[in-house]
Amino acid sequence: MIRKGILLAGGSGTRLHPTTQATSKQLLPVYDKPMVYYPLSTLLLAGIREVLVISTPADLPQFQRLFHDGSHLGIRISYAEQAKPEGIAQAFLIGEAWIAGEACALALGDNLIHGDHLSTLLRAASARPEGATVFAYQVRDPERYGVVSFGADGKAIDIVEKPVKPESNWAVTGLYFYDKRITEIAKKITPSARGELEITDINHWYLNEGSLHVERLGRGTAWLDAGTPDSLLQAATFVQTIQLRQGNLVGSPEEIAFRMKYIDADALRSCAKLIGKTELGRILNDIADGTHL
Ligand code: DAU
Repeated sequence: MIRKGILLAGGSGTRLHPTTQATSKQLLPVYDKPMVYYPLSTLLLAGIREVLVISTPADLPQFQRLFHDGSHLGIRISYAEQAKPEGIAQAFLIGEAWIAGEACALALGDNLIHGDHLSTLLRAASARPEGATVFAYQVRDPERYGVVSFGADGKAIDIVEKPVKPESNWAVTGLYFYDKRITEIAKKITPSARGELEITDINHWYLNEGSLHVERLGRGTAWLDAGTPDSLLQAATFVQTIQLRQGNLVGSPEEIAFRMKYIDADALRSCAKLIGKTELGRILNDIADGTHL
């Protein structure tokens, strides 16, 4: 099982200016929690308990104020700076010493994935000893993303970053699982025409080797990124709709830590206390008491 995961939460958030001129995009609220809670929840659901948060020198202290060392969640959170946004794949170079030659997952700080059976898929990805796993999702605007195309046998045949003419509408989501060669592979790739170390180039490397596993997420799963005013609002509305309709939480690392038995009921009550007299705090208390729903 993969033990480590990087949460990448840097970048300049230009598509959300002026909102992100003075604050980190990944700390903006998606309904009732900071955006970064959602990808952190995904990593926890995958069984990952060692997390490296990477952000800009200016924003990193805010993440530290939010998560501290992670012990309230029964996990360990470390921090590293990305001086300049020189590409998603740079995360593995920044994190080299922390990764220490192990397998490692990566979650983008603005991605939200929610759906049935997700934890089963995540745990399967985490259990794969060799190669890489990425998740693909059908979208109407694939040209905005990394796009994977499939052969007649359903196997991935190509993966292209922001293609002008996409070969399919399967976008690659911002959640990746790599084997222990990841740092060495990240060192091999060179900056793209836009000057970034592309995560798609890493995925392409695994594809060429025949060890890229592409898991297709079905229609019952929601994948949202929250990098523009519209997608941020849509993500918030999605979380609000599910939470108010069901009474269940979307993207609560506290709840997941409790359900995964990383923390006990008293520790969950302490988390709820920190959150205060909000609906979120009330639900976490009810979960700790066993009286939720
Ligand atoms: O959301 C999934 C997509 O994410 C994938 O389909 C693409 O293949 C992948 O390249 C990426 O595309 P984006 O255009 O969304 O990448 P963006 O530059 O917006 O970066 C995604 C997040 O990562 C963003 O929240 C900021 C953060 N980031 C990005 C870069 C380039 C960093 O923290 N540091 C960086 O250097």
